[in-house]
Amino acid sequence: MFIKSDDHETVREWISELSVLQTDLEIRVWPNVDPIEDIDFALVWDPRLGDLARYPNLKCIGSLGAGVDHILKDPGLPEGVPIVRLVDQQLIRAMSEFVLLHVLRYHRQQPQFEAAQRESRWITLPPPNTGETRLGFLGLGELGRDAAIKFRALGFDVAGWSRRLKQIDGISSYSGQDGLAALLERSHYLICLLPLTAETRGIINRRNLALLPTGAFVINCGRGGHVVDEDLLSALDSGHVAGATLDVFHVEPLSSSHPYWRHPRVTVIPHASSLTSARSGAPQMIENIRRVRAGEAPMNQVNRQAGY
Ligand code: GLV
Repeated sequence: MFIKSDDHETVREWISELSVLQTDLEIRVWPNVDPIEDIDFALVWDPRLGDLARYPNLKCIGSLGAGVDHILKDPGLPEGVPIVRLVDQQLIRAMSEFVLLHVLRYHRQQPQFEAAQRESRWITLPPPNTGETRLGFLGLGELGRDAAIKFRALGFDVAGWSRRLKQIDGISSYSGQDGLAALLERSHYLICLLPLTAETRGIINRRNLALLPTGAFVINCGRGGHVVDEDLLSALDSGHVAGATLDVFHVEPLSSSHPYWRHPRVTVIPHASSLTSARSGAPQMIENIRRVRAGEAPMNQVNRQAGY
């Protein structure tokens, strides 16, 4: 097998965690993969376009992250080789924490209190009614579902939009174009935890933002490609959107000249909401290596058609 990431620390951690679990595993570090005939498993983040088609005996492609857009964007991806993503409980928990933190920060008017403190100003702001505060999740997969359930437990009115309707206790489920409009119209908070696919690219655009109630907040922890930046910026400038917390961007790192950095209503987080950990992700990759070597189907397979 080989591992490919541009981050040396990630590579080091994965090799160490995989080797603890399976001492005889031969792990090469891309680009030192020769002879390519030996490669049966590729564990990658942002593989070079066309590279994955070079391995004649490749049995499985594993993503070093929850998202697989960095793999599926390759038009030369070998047909018929299963792609697996990480379903990491630690990543799911950390994402829910992040979304809880940032929604509650707006909900409990923390930016206003901090601004008042900077001016030694005593202000009175009653806490908003939680039961009347409506949250709309774009995406009710592993990540969206966990966060939605946790907000529901706090008493928020929670709904979600996904490709297919979901049955989750106490959470209203929407799908399709009409469902999207209905979700947007009711959402004081729009939280994007979607995979980036042809259908979801640019979903946070002028038309959809206009459907949100005035004063809504946007939290994006999906991908930068979900947002049309100019549209979000103009919705923020007009006050239609009251604030945005953005963890992901079209180009990362976000350029220092990007208007998001200095926008008074934008919180920029440097893709740090939640990251996969080698410690919690290695066991499922070891199991998947075992499965594909035994001719069995791997776990957490990506549906290439759906794009996630
Ligand atoms: C991070 O963005 C991931 O996809 O895991």
